Amino acid sequence: MGALSQTRVPVIAIDGPSASGKGTVAARVAQALGFHYLDSGALYRLTTLAAIAAAIALEDEPGLAEVARTMQIRFGADGVRLAGRDVTEALRTEEVSAATSRVAAWPAVCAALLERQRGFRQLPGLVADGRDMGSIVFPDADVKVFLSASLETRAERRYKQLMEKGMYAKMADVVEELRRRDARDASRPVAPLKHYPDAFFLDTSGLSVEQAVAQVLDWWRERASRRGRETDRGGKSP
Ligand code: C5P
Repeated sequence: MGALSQTRVPVIAIDGPSASGKGTVAARVAQALGFHYLDSGALYRLTTLAAIAAAIALEDEPGLAEVARTMQIRFGADGVRLAGRDVTEALRTEEVSAATSRVAAWPAVCAALLERQRGFRQLPGLVADGRDMGSIVFPDADVKVFLSASLETRAERRYKQLMEKGMYAKMADVVEELRRRDARDASRPVAPLKHYPDAFFLDTSGLSVEQAVAQVLDWWRERASRRGRETDRGGKSP
């Protein structure tokens, strides 16, 4: 019997900086395997939007944590809803991105979101993307990937995304904002963004989305078949 036949729910954790392509890759990997998908950044972004709606200051740590614990959210095929309102587009603005990395720096906010994130771990499996999926939220993940790309590549991707959405931006501002966000995410006291040693490192600068997805799926299959062999051996010689 292989690992997949046990009731333990497998997890693939994909962490990395903003605009590294981790969201796209994680969603495609989830689709290929028929797994659930957790965009943990969306939970932090929802906390920011909910706090703004409730006029809670971004410096009010207990107030923000309370919002993170109690906000009513729903992820569906038709988008993301906050208290019944469609916020799919509102979540992705540069203002919300910048405010969110400040909100996410509060330890009480991370703690409040921990159980909510773990709740997404359901059969047949989960692909989770974020900053601390493999280190804090799912430390026992089956496959951990740290996905990155050069600052220039990430800025170009973000710039293209913004233009496609009709949001005008200057390239120099996009680079500067990414640099600021990287610095904040890497220096926060709880779960700073870093490449932890048990994660595979994948630089996507020269890779297409398909190539990055194929690499993660290869690591997953290797891992699943190794687990299967270990379990089989264990069964024969207890
Ligand atoms: O991934 P995304 O850009 O949507 O994340 C938005 C912000 O949320 C990040 O800049 C980071 O500050 C925070 N975040 C986090 N931990 C995660 C996911 C996101 O602190 N697991």
